[in-house]
Amino acid sequence: MGTAAQAVAYERKGDIAVLKAQNPPVNALGQAVRQGLIEGIAKAEDEGAKAVLIYGDGTTYFAGADIREFGKPPLEPYLPDVCNRIEASPLIVVSAMHGTALGGGLEIALSTHYRIAVPKARMGLPEVHLGLIPGAAGTQRLPRLIGVEKALDIMTTGRQIGAEEALSLGVIDRVTEGTPEEIGLAYAEELIASNAPRRPVSEMPAPEPIDWDATYEAVLKRGRGQISPAMCVRAVQGACELPFDEGVANERRIFRELMETDQRQGMIHAFFAERAVGKLPELKGVEPRPLAAIAVIGGGTMGSGIATSALMAGLSVTMLEMSPEAAAKAKDRIAGNLSGALKRGKIDQAGFDRLTEQALTLTTSYDDLGQADLVIEAVYEEMEVKKEVFRKLDAVAMPGAVLATNTSYLDVNEIAAVTARPEDVLGLHFFSPAHVMKLLEIVVADRTAPEVLATGFALGKRMGKVSVRAGVCDGFIGNRILSHYRSAADHMILDGASPYQIDAALEAFGFAMGPYAVADLAGLDIGWAVRKRRRAEGLDPRARDSTYADRLCEAGHFGQKTGKGYYDYAAGAKARVPNPEVEPLIEADRAAQGITPRAFTDDEIVRRYMAAMVNEAARVVGEGIARRPLDVDVTLLYGYGFPRYRGGPLKWADMEGLPGLLEDIRGYARQDDYFWQPAPLLEKLVAEGKTFEDLNKEAAG
Ligand code: 3HC
Repeated sequence: MGTAAQAVAYERKGDIAVLKAQNPPVNALGQAVRQGLIEGIAKAEDEGAKAVLIYGDGTTYFAGADIREFGKPPLEPYLPDVCNRIEASPLIVVSAMHGTALGGGLEIALSTHYRIAVPKARMGLPEVHLGLIPGAAGTQRLPRLIGVEKALDIMTTGRQIGAEEALSLGVIDRVTEGTPEEIGLAYAEELIASNAPRRPVSEMPAPEPIDWDATYEAVLKRGRGQISPAMCVRAVQGACELPFDEGVANERRIFRELMETDQRQGMIHAFFAERAVGKLPELKGVEPRPLAAIAVIGGGTMGSGIATSALMAGLSVTMLEMSPEAAAKAKDRIAGNLSGALKRGKIDQAGFDRLTEQALTLTTSYDDLGQADLVIEAVYEEMEVKKEVFRKLDAVAMPGAVLATNTSYLDVNEIAAVTARPEDVLGLHFFSPAHVMKLLEIVVADRTAPEVLATGFALGKRMGKVSVRAGVCDGFIGNRILSHYRSAADHMILDGASPYQIDAALEAFGFAMGPYAVADLAGLDIGWAVRKRRRAEGLDPRARDSTYADRLCEAGHFGQKTGKGYYDYAAGAKARVPNPEVEPLIEADRAAQGITPRAFTDDEIVRRYMAAMVNEAARVVGEGIARRPLDVDVTLLYGYGFPRYRGGPLKWADMEGLPGLLEDIRGYARQDDYFWQPAPLLEKLVAEGKTFEDLNKEAAG
């Protein structure tokens, strides 16, 4: 960013001083912008302008404070002071918003006297997603403007609202089509002509109070351990109970306290990590291949989800199934998925009809796949079945078509090798339900061409996914690590913990669901098939194994879909009641293995689970399966319910301290030195006094 005058351009248009922010790409409120706003207001006053218009150059109004400045010593002028200065101006100050007015951006708008926006503008106070609360009097001004409950809804969820909703809530005064400069100037001229008064929100009466303690507790509970949404309640309480300036000081104190927390660090790490995953040296200057028509082979839950996602992204889809009946069922599944989008207003009825009738083609013949730019196979997870599909595909796909397998464990090299074009083959590992889950693992085989990888990322972007590059191994990044920490949990069960204690301990840690509730949701038959395959391949004799989960499957209990698994779902999916058949199976297993059960504390459960996760993740990074630690973090955040406010397992590990974790792993290895072998990368980092974040930085150059 340049000087203040460059960051905020000043221009006079008659009686109106126009302040145009120029800090691409998102007009973040860095130091020069803040200084530029102060200087611009002062100049407008000195020059005798009657009104000031503030808007953003490029694609957006201010998208918020400059997150890159967080954690560094704050630089003057501070944002709350800039807001106060704007509001205190004797001139009429108008904001014209387009793009996104977020966080400090909306707080600037709230300190101007009138607000206008284009219909497509979006606004919000998303600070909770960064582990913070609004810190430039947003918690004081917004409730004065729209009332406590509506303001708290916006702050505690961090959701974005559109211009129309903002207008109906009273956040803005007017919505008009046009450029922000045009609509802002016209509005300011009108205000001058009508002698409109200044309208400082801080001078509006304090809002009506609510039951603060009850609301605080409810929001805290909803946050599953995240503290910042609940702290919004305390800051807004200040708006009701304190004079404006003291309310601002109270907000500032809470903001500063949160700035020092691990939660703030974790969430900001997550923010930048999810933007860094697609930035790979091998993709620099590489153009993706064209993408207009795709084909999906297999219309089960996964294939239909992928097809839905592709249709929603504007691609045409050919769905191949084995029989017309199976194809019709696939179409029903896709239509079912799309009707969800229809209900949520993401598409209208005409869109629904177009997607299901024109953009989707059903077929039972491979010959119809010859026009597809990219084909995704989503058939049964069995190597021979997949190879057969790829042989047929190789015979019909057009030259240059990308051939993708949606396998979640199998060797993509082996699949690619049955084709005459292994450079066109890659893995696209979607997560179920594929039209909902944001994660996409893009699996690069030995001979995958860079532009094929780039095409995978381009597809992910179009579908609105967070795509992570992964190398080939059993389970890639996510499922490989999952398999390891799940084993750690299984070992704890053998040694005396119950699945229910483990789920509860990990949910208290912040996971959306504990591992056994997740297993029930995914289907216990999946893990059963993997165990059978691994046993058939030959387990290492030092590996611990257990049979209780197999017995559960043999009894026909596959989890939610059969009504019983670790839990009994007779009273509904949410009412998780332990299945009484489980404990006796576990006890029988312990007895057969001669294990005397011992008690586990919740802390030990979390520590062992996390240590196993971090240790395997370090191996995954050390072997190059994940390029950087941040790729693991994003995978676990988006595919495995890892609590975002902890940043991801390797960010968590950095904050916990790697030496202590390694020491614990060495301690566990004294009981089981096969499972708990420390990852070489973890040992290396500790020996060199480095962190995973250092590796992220080295990779960024
Ligand atoms: N500060 C610094 N950099 C930011 C930024 C911010 N507030 N917002 C976005 N960026 C950067 C991104 O890191 C990215 O950089 P890169 O190109 O080097 O990767 C670039 O701007 C473009 O961002 P996106 O790739 O995310 O672009 P999109 O167009 O997809 O999204 C956006 C734009 C909706 C503005 C999205 O970036 C976003 O949600 N940004 C964060 C907004 C936010 O959280 N604001 C509140 C900040 S906290 C605050 O204001 C505190 C105050 O109350 C005191």
